[in-house]
Amino acid sequence: MVRICVTGGAGFIGSNFVRRLIETTESDVVVLDLLTYAGNLENLEGLEETGRMTFVKGSVCDADVVARAVEGCGAIVNFAAETHVDRSISDPSVFLETNVEGPQVLMKAAKDRGVRFVQVSTDEVYGSLTDTGLFTESSPLDPSSPYAASKASADLLLSAFVRTFGLDAVVTRCGNNYGPRQFPEKLIPLFVTNALEDKPLPLYGDGLNVRDWIHVDDHCDAIMAVMEAGETGQVYNISASQELTNKEIAERLLDCLGKPWDLVHHVEDRPGHDRRYALDASKLCARTGWRPKVDFDRGLAQTVAWYRDNVAWWQRIKSGEYRRFYDKLYGDRLKTPKG
Ligand code: TYD
Repeated sequence: MVRICVTGGAGFIGSNFVRRLIETTESDVVVLDLLTYAGNLENLEGLEETGRMTFVKGSVCDADVVARAVEGCGAIVNFAAETHVDRSISDPSVFLETNVEGPQVLMKAAKDRGVRFVQVSTDEVYGSLTDTGLFTESSPLDPSSPYAASKASADLLLSAFVRTFGLDAVVTRCGNNYGPRQFPEKLIPLFVTNALEDKPLPLYGDGLNVRDWIHVDDHCDAIMAVMEAGETGQVYNISASQELTNKEIAERLLDCLGKPWDLVHHVEDRPGHDRRYALDASKLCARTGWRPKVDFDRGLAQTVAWYRDNVAWWQRIKSGEYRRFYDKLYGDRLKTPKG
């Protein structure tokens, strides 16, 4: 495969994928990214100089820009998305545009050119689990948030494109990612950066919601494996089988940083908050031989170290547009902590 179009390639997971493609394969990469609040050209630093990456600024909803970006590409991998559940609760509309209309434009472009389309989806499309059991690829779609509903919609659209138009396409559904360069609205980078500044860590509800954590490098390797060897029309769950409650995450982060537990504030819960996500990734392992490589404690310690060493990166973000969102979401909650 000579050239790959990576949409959302300036974001956290997308930029990691671009870096890995350049470091571990012969492929050239075209990054298509609108550079919304979560996209950051600093995430791609040093890659243009390799001569193997070109950057196109634009929206996945814009068919003309998409046509330009995918020119000569042998595959399209779609990371471009609005991803933050709390933002989807404040304003669902942009989620429908970017996460449903965008994939539709991309799928049409892939179909017209006869190239493979990889849709990076999420475990959140399955909704919430109780204490036991795992989601498999045949679990029903039962999204709880506008974000999850938008991702589920794109997955359904993809399945329709495969059946109706013979699109060569695959879907990946992964759990919660962590690693360097994650936008500090998400649990781990928010808690690490707040703790570094001795600010409160807003833990939703009882803090016992469970997430299935994976290092971004392992996630990206799995997507690469699916891009190369996934069967068309199929969905592949991606998981490192690392389940932890949010409380446990907070404890481990504070431990790494040598900060006290009393920085944690229990605050009012997120509406529609899914209790537990956990995935069965045996289909992916059987098909591709992929296995996760990053030990969680080691990966977390490296991630914490990255935020400690790159204060300017996140301070610039946290003092910009994000500040208003943060104050709106957490201001009242932190004034009336739950315990
Ligand atoms: P998040 O990083 O937003 O990912 P997702 O909602 O997609 O799983 O949240 C991870 C978990 O952490 C989720 O159960 C919500 C919780 N959480 C908090 O307790 N406080 C916070 O400030 C945030 C952002 C998340």
